[in-house]
Formats: sequence, C-alpha cells, structure tokens
Amino acid sequence: MPASIVLGTQWGDEGKGKATDYLADRMDLCVRYQGGNNAGHTVIAEGRELKLNLIPSGILYEHVTSVLADGVVIDPGVLLGEVAELQADGVDCSRLKISGNAHLIMPYHLELEKVTQRFLGENALGTTKRGIGPSYGDKAARIGLRVQDLFDEKIFRQKLDVVLEEKNKILTQVYNRLPLDGDGIVDDYMEYAARLAPHVVDTGKLVHDALRDDKNVLLEGAQGTLLDLDHGTYPFVTSSNPVAGYALASVGIGPKEVDRVIGIAKAYVTRVGAGPFPTEDLGPDGERLGERGAEFGTTTGRKRRCGWYDACIMRYAARLNGLTELILTKLDVLSGFETVKVCVGYQAEGERYDDFPPHQSLFHKAEPIYEELEGWGEEIVDARSIDDLPSAARKYVDRLEQLADVPVRLVSVGPAREQSLPAG
Ligand code: IMP
Repeated sequence: MPASIVLGTQWGDEGKGKATDYLADRMDLCVRYQGGNNAGHTVIAEGRELKLNLIPSGILYEHVTSVLADGVVIDPGVLLGEVAELQADGVDCSRLKISGNAHLIMPYHLELEKVTQRFLGENALGTTKRGIGPSYGDKAARIGLRVQDLFDEKIFRQKLDVVLEEKNKILTQVYNRLPLDGDGIVDDYMEYAARLAPHVVDTGKLVHDALRDDKNVLLEGAQGTLLDLDHGTYPFVTSSNPVAGYALASVGIGPKEVDRVIGIAKAYVTRVGAGPFPTEDLGPDGERLGERGAEFGTTTGRKRRCGWYDACIMRYAARLNGLTELILTKLDVLSGFETVKVCVGYQAEGERYDDFPPHQSLFHKAEPIYEELEGWGEEIVDARSIDDLPSAARKYVDRLEQLADVPVRLVSVGPAREQSLPAG
C-alpha cells in the first residue's frame, strides 16, 4: 500500500492540523517528517480543543501510531510536556514512536537564537525562537546531538563538552551573556532520556514494514512550501524542507512508495514573520480576514499577516511537490465580502509573471494582478455537503481548482471534523 504525503502549500498555518486529523481517520501510521515545535496544530475533536506542536494529530485516534521521523528536531522537554498534557486529557501516548536519528534542540540553541536574532535588528527573520535554525545548523555542521545520544551518558557528555565549549565562547565573548552549565544540561537531558526511552525505535524500518503489510501511512509536513529552506522565500524561511521530496529522505523510503501528495491551501493567505508577501492586504479587508479567521499563531500567539489567495504560489507549490489533490480550508472566513480577489499573476519591473518569479528581488517587488470574483453574503459554517454552499462560493472553489490544475478533494468550512465537505 503506497504512502500519502500531506503538506502546506503557502507560508504555513493552512489548517494542516484539521486536514491531517480528517485524513488520520483512515490511517495506521502518521509520520511527521521535518520541523520541530515551531509548528502548531489546533485540533477540535469531540468538542475538545487540543493544541499540538510536535506530535502528529493522529495520536487522537486509538488505531494510529504517531511517528517523529529522522528529519524532525526535538526539544525533549517540550515533547514530554505535550505528552503529559495529552495524557491528562486521557489520550494514550504509548503509540508515539521517535527516531533515534532525530536531532535534539539544546538549551544553547534557544539562547543563541535569541541573541543572534536580536543582533540582526531590523533584518531579523522573526523566527519562532524555538531553537530550530541553530539545531539544524549544528546538524549540517555535524556537531549536533541526536536522540540516540541520550542513551549513553558518557557519549552524551563527551559530545556536549566539545560543543558547549564553543557555544559558551560565543555566548560570553561575542554576545556578553552568561555561559551555560554542562552539568545542569546533562542532568536534565538524562531525566528526559529515561522518559523518552520507551518511544525510541527504528522508525525507518517501522514505516517500511507497515507499507509492506499494506498499512495506510500518512507523511505529514510542517510549516509550508514557501518556507522551504531551498525553494521558499529565502532567507525568510525555516531551516528545514517542508516539500514532498524531503518526506522520503527524512523517513528513509524510496520515491515509489508514495502515490498521493495532498496539498493544503487556505482560501486566502497568511504569513507570520518577515518576508515578501505580494497579496498582503494592509487595509480593512486584511483586518477582516485576520479577525474572522482568528489569525494568531498557535505557537507564539503572534498576529498573522493576511491577504488574498495567490494562485501563482499555488501553481509553484503544485509543481514543486507534484500535488495530486488539494484540500481547501477556511472557506467560511470569506463569507460577507462583496467580491473576493484571486491573484493570477504579478507585475514586476515592467514585466508580467504568471509563475513564481525566478529571482527573489522580483518577488519582493511583485505587484499582484487580481481577478475579482463575486462574493457570498451568507455564513456557510453549517454546510455539510458541497451542494449546501452558495453558488458564488462553489464558483470560487472551481476557479481555484482550475488555476491550480489540481483537483480539490475537500473543502473545510470550520474547525470541527463535521465541517469538512468532500468535493469532486
Ligand atoms: P523558525 O522556523 O522558527 O526558524 O522561523 C523561520 C520562519 O518560519 C519565521 O518567519 C516563522 O514565523 C516561520 N514559521 C515557522 N514555523 C511556522 C509555522 O508553523 N507556521 C507559520 N510560520 C512558521
């Protein structure tokens, strides 16, 4: 049975938690393949609102095994806190499996991110300050500590001592901060080790065996395509690869193992942090989208920047990820606008671009070319099938489908599970 990949097609916060929760119903394994606790999913299930940062939302289903694959970075204290909260809510977390190859977020990653972002001043990226970039940086520099290092205190200590000497020099001599205490870190991380141990397995083999046994496997990306380290709006990106291709590298399976690549798109666009965003609306329409969509970050509480749907970035996401289908979320937020705008191209330096421009400075200057579609006045949160939608809303969905050249399979009109309308 081939695996499916689900990922964000914009700058994150597309409503992946809701969509993956919907898909998880039919899955046996839900595998998170990149990012860390910079992500945030809000899931509403049976009237309960749960906020998850690291653990795939499949954990809410008793038949699902949730996996954190090699390409994820893990802050063990945060992960254990999330497990404790879920358990307090009656959710069994023994089905959580963690790769020993995943890299750890260490206290110096948090400390260094704080000072380096401050140092960048007005050029700061507006990161989530969860230590994501510094942890991936150490991974690439081959000085990272991994989950498996937790289970040999001597090795953990040796590796930590080497890294900490350099990190403490940077903290004290460059940034004038206090050094971090190695003994304290070892004590904390050995305590985490004991609690994480039952969850750590060979996740690559687990996924491979599940596919051989005809199990349903969902590989979940965090953040979104435009935040991809290689293909996003660099440097205003995250430090990992949300694109579909990385799912395979992270989990450790080959390309033939996947047959569906499901893109999640919000019916409008949001972005948190700095960076170009051509369809951003700084007027009352953007304000209204933010209010109606409750656009505040799950992880940091930051207000998200809001704007109109951008069909150019969607076409780019469709190409990069080889999308086979789309899930359109938060269509209900657009109710009440007289007209709704869709960006179908950009104007930059006197030229028209129908695709994502090839150079970042063009994207910074890109002026959206809009198509205006008829709006719909009525609220649509009570719709339970696509036929319940007003015809203007259906036409909007059809137009987005046509522009993306990818079929829309599901339209979401609210946070609850029953507000997901199968389409097409
Ligand atoms: P980092 O991932 O914390 O390094 O932040 C890098 C950029 O990615 C910042 O602009 C963040 O706001 C953005 N970012 C990281 N995670 C998310 C997410 O889950 N949703 C939306 N934006 C995110």
